[in-house]
Amino acid sequence: MALFGLSVFFLLCLSAWAAPGNGTEEAGGLFRRFLARYGRRYSLGSLELQRRERFFQESIQRHVYLNSPVLSHENNSAIYGINQFSDLSPEEFKAIYLQSKAVKLPEYVKTSTKEAVLPARFDWRDKKFVTPVRNQLSCGGCWAFSIVGGIESAYAIKGNLLEELSVQQVIDCSYEDHGCNGGSTISALHWLNKTRVKLARASEYKFKAQTGICHYFPSSDFGVSIRDYKAYNFSGAEEQMMMQLINLGPLAVTVDAVSWQDYLGGIIQHHCSSGEANHAVLITGFDTTGDIPYWIVQNSWGTTWGIDGYVYIKIGENVCGIADTVSAALV
Ligand SMILES: *[C@@H]1O[C@H](CO)[C@@H](O)[C@H](O)[C@H]1NC(C)=O
Ligand SMILES: *[C@@H]1O[C@H](CO)[C@@H](O)[C@H](O)[C@H]1NC(C)=O
Ligand SMILES: *[C@@H]1O[C@H](CO)[C@@H](O)[C@H](O)[C@H]1NC(C)=O
Ligand SMILES: *[C@@H]1O[C@H](CO)[C@@H](O)[C@H](O)[C@H]1NC(C)=O
Repeated sequence: MALFGLSVFFLLCLSAWAAPGNGTEEAGGLFRRFLARYGRRYSLGSLELQRRERFFQESIQRHVYLNSPVLSHENNSAIYGINQFSDLSPEEFKAIYLQSKAVKLPEYVKTSTKEAVLPARFDWRDKKFVTPVRNQLSCGGCWAFSIVGGIESAYAIKGNLLEELSVQQVIDCSYEDHGCNGGSTISALHWLNKTRVKLARASEYKFKAQTGICHYFPSSDFGVSIRDYKAYNFSGAEEQMMMQLINLGPLAVTVDAVSWQDYLGGIIQHHCSSGEANHAVLITGFDTTGDIPYWIVQNSWGTTWGIDGYVYIKIGENVCGIADTVSAALV
Protein backbone atom coordinates (compact mmCIF):
# COMPACT_ATOMS: atom_id res chain seq x y z
CA MET A 1 0.00 0.00 0.00
CA ALA A 2 2.66 2.47 1.07
CA LEU A 3 4.85 1.37 -1.80
CA PHE A 4 2.01 1.81 -4.25
CA GLY A 5 1.43 5.34 -3.00
CA LEU A 6 5.09 6.18 -3.35
CA SER A 7 5.37 4.68 -6.80
CA VAL A 8 2.52 6.91 -7.93
CA PHE A 9 4.63 9.82 -6.77
CA PHE A 10 7.57 8.40 -8.60
CA LEU A 11 5.67 8.22 -11.87
CA LEU A 12 4.34 11.74 -11.40
CA CYS A 13 7.83 13.01 -10.83
CA LEU A 14 9.07 11.41 -14.03
CA SER A 15 6.19 12.91 -15.97
CA ALA A 16 6.99 16.30 -14.49
CA TRP A 17 10.47 15.98 -15.89
CA ALA A 18 9.28 14.67 -19.22
CA ALA A 19 7.36 17.91 -19.87
CA PRO A 20 9.96 20.27 -21.30
CA GLY A 21 9.18 23.96 -21.11
CA ASN A 22 6.49 23.54 -18.47
CA GLY A 23 8.32 21.58 -15.79
CA THR A 24 8.25 24.22 -13.09
CA GLU A 25 4.51 24.44 -12.60
CA GLU A 26 4.04 20.71 -12.53
CA ALA A 27 7.02 20.27 -10.23
CA GLY A 28 5.49 22.98 -8.03
CA GLY A 29 2.35 20.88 -7.89
CA LEU A 30 4.42 17.88 -6.92
CA PHE A 31 6.00 19.87 -4.12
CA ARG A 32 2.58 20.92 -2.82
CA ARG A 33 1.48 17.29 -2.86
CA PHE A 34 4.66 16.34 -0.99
CA LEU A 35 3.95 19.00 1.67
CA ALA A 36 0.41 17.71 2.12
CA ARG A 37 1.38 14.05 2.16
CA TYR A 38 4.12 14.45 4.78
CA GLY A 39 2.32 17.09 6.84
CA ARG A 40 4.94 19.81 6.41
CA ARG A 41 3.93 23.21 7.73
CA TYR A 42 6.25 25.83 6.28
CA SER A 43 4.70 29.28 6.25
CA LEU A 44 3.62 30.55 2.87
CA GLY A 45 6.05 32.89 1.18
CA SER A 46 8.79 32.22 3.74
CA LEU A 47 12.47 31.82 2.87
CA GLU A 48 12.29 28.43 4.54
CA LEU A 49 9.60 27.29 2.12
CA GLN A 50 11.73 28.46 -0.82
CA ARG A 51 14.75 26.59 0.54
CA ARG A 52 12.71 23.41 1.04
CA GLU A 53 11.33 23.65 -2.48
CA ARG A 54 14.87 24.04 -3.86
CA PHE A 55 16.05 20.91 -1.99
CA PHE A 56 12.96 19.11 -3.24
CA GLN A 57 13.73 19.99 -6.87
CA GLU A 58 17.34 18.91 -6.34
CA SER A 59 16.14 15.57 -4.99
CA ILE A 60 14.11 15.04 -8.16
CA GLN A 61 17.28 15.58 -10.19
CA ARG A 62 19.03 12.99 -8.03
CA HIS A 63 16.21 10.52 -8.67
CA VAL A 64 16.67 10.90 -12.42
CA TYR A 65 20.36 10.10 -11.99
CA LEU A 66 19.82 7.22 -9.54
CA ASN A 67 17.13 5.66 -11.74
CA SER A 68 19.25 6.14 -14.84
CA PRO A 69 18.68 3.23 -17.26
CA VAL A 70 22.41 2.95 -18.05
CA LEU A 71 22.98 1.51 -14.61
CA SER A 72 19.54 0.07 -13.97
CA HIS A 73 19.38 -2.48 -16.78
CA GLU A 74 19.39 -5.34 -14.30
CA ASN A 75 16.16 -6.86 -13.13
CA ASN A 76 14.77 -5.79 -9.76
CA SER A 77 17.01 -2.78 -9.54
CA ALA A 78 16.30 -0.36 -6.77
CA ILE A 79 14.03 2.58 -7.50
CA TYR A 80 14.48 6.03 -6.07
CA GLY A 81 11.96 8.83 -5.74
CA ILE A 82 10.05 11.12 -3.46
CA ASN A 83 9.80 10.07 0.18
CA GLN A 84 9.79 11.73 3.61
CA PHE A 85 13.38 12.98 3.13
CA SER A 86 12.88 14.78 -0.19
CA ASP A 87 12.94 18.31 1.26
CA LEU A 88 16.25 17.80 3.08
CA SER A 89 19.59 18.68 1.53
CA PRO A 90 22.02 15.71 1.43
CA GLU A 91 24.09 17.54 4.08
CA GLU A 92 21.11 17.86 6.43
CA PHE A 93 20.16 14.24 5.83
CA LYS A 94 23.68 13.15 6.67
CA ALA A 95 23.85 15.28 9.79
CA ILE A 96 20.58 13.92 11.18
CA TYR A 97 20.39 10.32 10.04
CA LEU A 98 23.88 9.12 9.22
CA GLN A 99 25.63 9.00 12.56
CA SER A 100 27.38 5.69 12.81
CA LYS A 101 30.80 4.52 11.75
CA ALA A 102 32.42 1.32 10.54
CA VAL A 103 34.87 -0.29 12.93
CA LYS A 104 37.90 -2.33 11.93
CA LEU A 105 37.11 -5.90 12.91
CA PRO A 106 38.94 -9.19 12.51
CA GLU A 107 38.07 -10.99 9.30
CA TYR A 108 35.80 -13.96 9.79
CA VAL A 109 37.63 -17.27 9.78
CA LYS A 110 35.61 -20.30 8.81
CA THR A 111 35.51 -22.66 11.80
CA SER A 112 33.71 -25.60 10.26
CA THR A 113 35.19 -27.45 7.31
CA LYS A 114 31.83 -29.00 6.46
CA GLU A 115 30.05 -27.27 3.58
CA ALA A 116 26.88 -26.06 5.19
CA VAL A 117 23.68 -26.08 3.16
CA LEU A 118 21.88 -22.76 3.20
CA PRO A 119 18.16 -22.42 2.60
CA ALA A 120 17.28 -20.37 -0.49
CA ARG A 121 15.26 -17.99 1.61
CA PHE A 122 15.34 -17.27 5.31
CA ASP A 123 13.81 -14.47 7.35
CA TRP A 124 13.55 -14.29 11.15
CA ARG A 125 10.33 -12.33 10.64
CA ASP A 126 8.67 -15.53 9.39
CA LYS A 127 9.25 -17.07 12.83
CA LYS A 128 7.92 -13.95 14.59
CA PHE A 129 11.29 -13.22 16.18
CA VAL A 130 11.63 -9.63 14.98
CA THR A 131 10.13 -6.54 16.62
CA PRO A 132 8.34 -3.96 14.44
CA VAL A 133 10.13 -1.22 12.51
CA ARG A 134 10.88 1.78 14.70
CA ASN A 135 11.42 5.44 13.90
CA GLN A 136 14.54 7.16 15.23
CA LEU A 137 13.02 10.55 14.26
CA SER A 138 15.67 13.26 14.36
CA CYS A 139 17.89 11.31 16.79
CA GLY A 140 21.15 9.95 15.32
CA GLY A 141 20.81 6.80 17.42
CA CYS A 142 20.73 4.24 14.57
CA TRP A 143 23.61 2.37 16.22
CA ALA A 144 21.46 1.80 19.35
CA PHE A 145 18.37 0.82 17.32
CA SER A 146 20.27 -1.82 15.39
CA ILE A 147 21.85 -3.55 18.37
CA VAL A 148 18.72 -3.40 20.54
CA GLY A 149 16.76 -4.95 17.65
CA GLY A 150 19.34 -7.74 17.52
CA ILE A 151 19.17 -8.33 21.28
CA GLU A 152 15.34 -8.47 21.22
CA SER A 153 15.47 -11.14 18.53
CA ALA A 154 18.25 -13.14 20.20
CA TYR A 155 16.25 -13.11 23.45
CA ALA A 156 13.11 -14.36 21.68
CA ILE A 157 15.02 -17.00 19.69
CA LYS A 158 16.29 -18.35 23.02
CA GLY A 159 12.68 -19.13 23.97
CA ASN A 160 11.56 -15.94 25.68
CA LEU A 161 8.75 -13.59 24.80
CA LEU A 162 9.51 -11.16 21.98
CA GLU A 163 9.47 -7.76 23.67
CA GLU A 164 10.62 -4.28 22.79
CA LEU A 165 13.60 -3.27 24.90
CA SER A 166 14.77 0.25 25.64
CA VAL A 167 16.77 1.93 22.88
CA GLN A 168 16.74 5.12 24.94
CA GLN A 169 18.63 3.37 27.74
CA VAL A 170 21.45 2.51 25.34
CA ILE A 171 21.42 6.05 23.90
CA ASP A 172 21.61 7.58 27.41
CA CYS A 173 23.96 5.12 29.08
CA SER A 174 26.52 3.79 26.57
CA TYR A 175 29.22 6.20 27.67
CA GLU A 176 31.66 5.51 24.83
CA ASP A 177 29.04 6.74 22.36
CA HIS A 178 27.41 10.10 21.74
CA GLY A 179 23.72 9.42 22.18
CA CYS A 180 21.61 11.04 19.49
CA ASN A 181 24.77 12.59 18.03
CA GLY A 182 26.05 9.22 16.91
CA GLY A 183 27.76 6.09 18.05
CA SER A 184 29.07 2.70 17.11
CA THR A 185 27.35 -0.67 17.28
CA ILE A 186 30.59 -2.28 18.42
CA SER A 187 31.35 0.12 21.27
CA ALA A 188 27.75 -0.23 22.49
CA LEU A 189 28.07 -4.02 22.47
CA HIS A 190 31.43 -3.71 24.19
CA TRP A 191 29.76 -1.62 26.91
CA LEU A 192 26.84 -4.05 27.30
CA ASN A 193 29.24 -7.00 27.47
CA LYS A 194 31.54 -5.34 29.99
CA THR A 195 28.90 -3.97 32.37
CA ARG A 196 26.22 -6.69 31.93
CA VAL A 197 23.67 -3.88 32.15
CA LYS A 198 20.11 -5.16 31.95
CA LEU A 199 18.06 -3.49 29.24
CA ALA A 200 14.65 -2.42 30.52
CA ARG A 201 11.45 -2.70 28.54
CA ALA A 202 10.87 0.08 26.01
CA SER A 203 7.60 0.87 27.78
CA GLU A 204 9.49 1.49 31.03
CA TYR A 205 12.27 3.59 29.53
CA LYS A 206 10.63 5.36 26.65
CA PHE A 207 12.20 6.73 23.50
CA LYS A 208 12.46 10.54 23.66
CA ALA A 209 14.37 11.23 20.42
CA GLN A 210 17.05 13.11 22.34
CA THR A 211 19.92 12.15 24.61
CA GLY A 212 18.95 12.10 28.27
CA ILE A 213 20.36 11.24 31.67
CA CYS A 214 21.13 7.58 32.19
CA HIS A 215 18.62 5.89 34.51
CA TYR A 216 19.53 2.93 36.65
CA PHE A 217 17.10 0.26 37.70
CA PRO A 218 17.23 -2.03 40.74
CA SER A 219 18.92 -5.29 39.79
CA SER A 220 15.76 -7.18 40.80
CA ASP A 221 13.81 -5.52 37.98
CA PHE A 222 13.15 -7.21 34.66
CA GLY A 223 15.90 -6.72 32.14
CA VAL A 224 17.86 -8.45 29.41
CA SER A 225 21.63 -8.52 29.53
CA ILE A 226 24.01 -10.03 27.01
CA ARG A 227 26.58 -12.70 27.90
CA ASP A 228 28.87 -12.10 24.93
CA TYR A 229 28.86 -10.87 21.35
CA LYS A 230 30.44 -11.71 18.01
CA ALA A 231 31.80 -9.07 15.67
CA TYR A 232 33.55 -9.72 12.37
CA ASN A 233 34.36 -8.36 8.96
CA PHE A 234 32.61 -10.69 6.49
CA SER A 235 33.77 -8.89 3.37
CA GLY A 236 34.30 -11.63 0.75
CA ALA A 237 32.50 -14.15 2.97
CA GLU A 238 28.83 -13.29 2.67
CA GLU A 239 27.83 -16.97 2.47
CA GLN A 240 29.38 -17.50 5.90
CA MET A 241 27.57 -14.38 7.01
CA MET A 242 24.26 -15.96 5.90
CA MET A 243 25.11 -18.99 8.01
CA GLN A 244 25.84 -16.75 11.02
CA LEU A 245 22.47 -15.05 10.57
CA ILE A 246 20.80 -18.45 10.84
CA ASN A 247 22.95 -19.54 13.78
CA LEU A 248 22.99 -16.35 15.83
CA GLY A 249 19.91 -14.35 14.83
CA PRO A 250 19.52 -10.98 13.06
CA LEU A 251 22.83 -9.20 12.45
CA ALA A 252 23.58 -5.57 13.32
CA VAL A 253 25.61 -4.02 10.48
CA THR A 254 26.91 -0.65 9.41
CA VAL A 255 26.34 0.67 5.87
CA ASP A 256 26.84 3.62 3.58
CA ALA A 257 23.29 4.99 3.40
CA VAL A 258 23.77 8.26 1.50
CA SER A 259 21.66 7.04 -1.46
CA TRP A 260 19.01 5.69 0.92
CA GLN A 261 17.70 9.24 1.27
CA ASP A 262 15.87 8.60 -2.00
CA TYR A 263 15.19 4.84 -1.78
CA LEU A 264 11.67 3.57 -2.52
CA GLY A 265 12.08 -0.16 -3.12
CA GLY A 266 13.83 -2.88 -5.13
CA ILE A 267 17.28 -4.35 -4.61
CA ILE A 268 20.14 -1.88 -4.12
CA GLN A 269 23.00 -2.87 -6.42
CA HIS A 270 24.68 0.46 -7.20
CA HIS A 271 25.27 3.93 -5.83
CA CYS A 272 26.27 2.52 -2.46
CA SER A 273 29.92 2.28 -1.51
CA SER A 274 31.82 0.08 0.89
CA GLY A 275 34.37 1.47 3.32
CA GLU A 276 32.30 4.58 3.99
CA ALA A 277 29.77 3.44 6.54
CA ASN A 278 27.65 6.11 8.17
CA HIS A 279 24.53 4.25 9.33
CA ALA A 280 23.59 1.12 11.29
CA VAL A 281 20.74 -1.29 10.54
CA LEU A 282 19.61 -4.86 11.27
CA ILE A 283 19.66 -7.73 8.76
CA THR A 284 16.73 -10.05 9.46
CA GLY A 285 17.03 -12.42 6.50
CA PHE A 286 18.02 -13.12 2.92
CA ASP A 287 16.44 -14.27 -0.32
CA THR A 288 18.35 -16.03 -3.08
CA THR A 289 15.36 -17.37 -5.02
CA GLY A 290 15.39 -14.71 -7.75
CA ASP A 291 17.94 -13.48 -10.32
CA ILE A 292 19.59 -11.30 -7.71
CA PRO A 293 20.20 -12.61 -4.19
CA TYR A 294 19.58 -10.00 -1.51
CA TRP A 295 19.74 -9.25 2.19
CA ILE A 296 16.49 -8.29 3.92
CA VAL A 297 17.33 -5.32 6.12
CA GLN A 298 15.28 -3.55 8.77
CA ASN A 299 15.87 0.19 9.02
CA SER A 300 14.80 2.60 11.79
CA TRP A 301 13.22 5.35 9.69
CA GLY A 302 9.60 4.30 10.21
CA THR A 303 7.35 2.21 7.98
CA THR A 304 6.71 4.94 5.40
CA TRP A 305 10.33 4.61 4.23
CA GLY A 306 11.43 1.89 1.78
CA ILE A 307 9.50 -1.39 1.70
CA ASP A 308 7.40 -0.95 4.85
CA GLY A 309 10.55 0.20 6.61
CA TYR A 310 12.84 -2.43 5.03
CA VAL A 311 15.46 -2.29 2.28
CA TYR A 312 16.89 -5.03 0.05
CA ILE A 313 20.62 -5.12 -0.68
CA LYS A 314 22.38 -7.36 -3.17
CA ILE A 315 24.39 -10.19 -1.60
CA GLY A 316 27.95 -11.00 -2.61
CA GLU A 317 29.73 -7.76 -3.46
CA ASN A 318 29.76 -6.04 -0.08
CA VAL A 319 27.23 -3.54 -1.48
CA CYS A 320 26.90 -0.52 0.86
CA GLY A 321 29.72 -2.07 2.94
CA ILE A 322 27.11 -4.34 4.50
CA ALA A 323 29.65 -7.09 5.32
CA ASP A 324 32.35 -4.82 6.82
CA THR A 325 31.13 -4.41 10.40
CA VAL A 326 28.80 -7.26 11.37
CA SER A 327 27.80 -8.09 14.92
CA ALA A 328 25.42 -10.21 16.94
CA ALA A 329 24.74 -10.26 20.67
CA LEU A 330 24.51 -13.53 22.57
CA VAL A 331 21.95 -13.44 25.38
C1 LIG B 1 1.79 24.65 -17.87
O1 LIG B 1 0.96 23.67 -17.25
C2 LIG B 1 -0.13 24.22 -16.54
C3 LIG B 1 -0.82 23.09 -15.79
O2 LIG B 1 -0.84 21.90 -16.55
C4 LIG B 1 -1.04 24.96 -17.54
O3 LIG B 1 -2.16 25.50 -16.83
C5 LIG B 1 -0.25 26.07 -18.17
O4 LIG B 1 -1.04 26.73 -19.15
C6 LIG B 1 1.00 25.53 -18.85
N1 LIG B 1 1.84 26.63 -19.29
C7 LIG B 1 2.44 26.62 -20.47
C8 LIG B 1 3.32 27.81 -20.75
O5 LIG B 1 2.33 25.72 -21.28
C1 LIG C 1 16.19 -10.57 -16.28
O1 LIG C 1 15.07 -11.42 -16.31
C2 LIG C 1 14.91 -12.10 -17.54
C3 LIG C 1 13.58 -12.85 -17.50
O2 LIG C 1 13.39 -13.46 -16.25
C4 LIG C 1 16.11 -13.00 -17.78
O3 LIG C 1 15.98 -13.66 -19.02
C5 LIG C 1 17.39 -12.15 -17.78
O4 LIG C 1 18.52 -12.97 -17.89
C6 LIG C 1 17.49 -11.33 -16.51
N1 LIG C 1 18.61 -10.39 -16.59
C7 LIG C 1 19.58 -10.31 -15.69
C8 LIG C 1 20.63 -9.28 -15.91
O5 LIG C 1 19.62 -11.02 -14.70
C1 LIG D 1 37.02 -5.70 5.69
O1 LIG D 1 37.85 -6.59 4.98
C2 LIG D 1 38.08 -6.19 3.64
C3 LIG D 1 38.81 -7.32 2.95
O2 LIG D 1 39.93 -7.72 3.67
C4 LIG D 1 38.85 -4.90 3.65
O3 LIG D 1 39.10 -4.48 2.31
C5 LIG D 1 37.99 -3.83 4.35
O4 LIG D 1 38.70 -2.63 4.46
C6 LIG D 1 37.63 -4.31 5.74
N1 LIG D 1 36.66 -3.36 6.29
C7 LIG D 1 36.85 -2.67 7.42
C8 LIG D 1 35.79 -1.73 7.82
O5 LIG D 1 37.86 -2.80 8.08
C1 LIG E 1 32.62 -10.33 26.62
O1 LIG E 1 32.95 -10.40 27.99
C2 LIG E 1 33.53 -11.63 28.37
C3 LIG E 1 33.67 -11.63 29.89
O2 LIG E 1 34.32 -10.48 30.32
C4 LIG E 1 34.85 -11.80 27.67
O3 LIG E 1 35.44 -13.04 28.03
C5 LIG E 1 34.61 -11.76 26.16
O4 LIG E 1 35.85 -11.83 25.47
C6 LIG E 1 33.89 -10.49 25.78
N1 LIG E 1 33.52 -10.56 24.37
C7 LIG E 1 34.07 -9.79 23.42
C8 LIG E 1 33.64 -10.06 22.01
O5 LIG E 1 34.89 -8.92 23.66
